[in-house]
Amino acid sequence: MHTRTLGQGLQVSAIGLGAMGMSMSYGPNPGTREDMIAVLRGAVDRGVTFFDTAEVYGPYVNEELVGEALAPLRDQVVVATKFGWNIQDGAMAGLDSRPEQIRRVAEASLQRLRTDRIDLFYQHRVDPAVPIEDVAGVVGELVQEGKVAHFGLSEAGASTIRRAHAVFPVTAVQSEYSLWTRDPETEVLPTLAELGIGFVPFSPLGKGFLTGTVSPSTTFAEGDIRRTIPRFTEDNRAANQRVVDEVRTLAEAKGATPGQVALAWLLAQQPWIVPIPGTRRLERVAENAAATTVPLTADELASLDALAREVGVQGDRYDDAGMRMVGR
Ligand SMILES: NC(=O)c1ccc[n+]([C@@H]2O[C@H](COP(=O)([O-])OP(=O)(O)OC[C@H]3O[C@@H](n4cnc5c(N)ncnc54)[C@H](OP(=O)(O)O)[C@@H]3O)[C@@H](O)[C@H]2O)c1
Repeated sequence: MHTRTLGQGLQVSAIGLGAMGMSMSYGPNPGTREDMIAVLRGAVDRGVTFFDTAEVYGPYVNEELVGEALAPLRDQVVVATKFGWNIQDGAMAGLDSRPEQIRRVAEASLQRLRTDRIDLFYQHRVDPAVPIEDVAGVVGELVQEGKVAHFGLSEAGASTIRRAHAVFPVTAVQSEYSLWTRDPETEVLPTLAELGIGFVPFSPLGKGFLTGTVSPSTTFAEGDIRRTIPRFTEDNRAANQRVVDEVRTLAEAKGATPGQVALAWLLAQQPWIVPIPGTRRLERVAENAAATTVPLTADELASLDALAREVGVQGDRYDDAGMRMVGR
């Protein structure tokens, strides 16, 4: 797979792998922990070199999984993780990006990831109680100390990105972006273009919806986050179905899959965009990676660009509490 460069010279495969779903958010895992280790290592065999985890995934067990799987391949891969939550008794109890907490998380993440450096360390959500300048300052110190290589932000708004970048250069912003979630286009992407910061779209397959494997009659298992997301109520899935129907029609005409078209559209937006689709199945890792070989014409891109607006996507992408934390 070809590589792309994020922000301050971080070279990664053009498509990464999000590991979150291996430990949470999408209901029972179809495989065992050993299977997940095989998926992570198999991804490297298929050219994926960019892996995404976070302290809070599990919590903790996802970093441990990624750490164990990639330890033998450490120098071939780029591992990104995230800080910023107050985790109490295994549950998220609000945000915590105080400098001392960032330092504690960095040390613990290094242990769990079985490494001496975190390649990309993101603030997971902007903490209104801690000035972003203080966050950038402490991550900058961790970089000076060699414990972290690059600084990232997740779901930060444009002015926060600017303030952080002025204190310590940001390499990547990670936010939800896909054919049916277009929010970053208004302010965030132009800001990143201006500042030379890379962008990592999360949930690039619309949490599975854009692959065509979710329908109005799909039932989500206990523990599946889509049970709580307004966009995934039965009525909203029915209303939003046209998005994926159109994607599927285009995909069939091109001999591709709907998920590949969704990823190819993201890749075509900017050369500094690197999506991180999540999957627990090696055949889907290969399918998603092969999106880099699906070219889209200017006409196809234009019709995909217009799709969300034409259909009028129904439902927020998070519940109310989740929506209050994004774009700050
Ligand atoms: N910064 C943040 O706040 C944040 C938030 C959410 C996610 N993330 C990161 O972004 C990564 C990706 O996001 P995501 O996992 O939420 O959403 P996603 O990648 O849009 O979709 C994941 C879903 O799609 C399914 N899937 C993946 N490839 C498929 C394919 N080729 N065909 C059919 N179904 C497919 C997966 O099921 P299977 O696993 O069963 O294949 C899973 O249900 C996460 O792993 C995480 O690292 C970050």
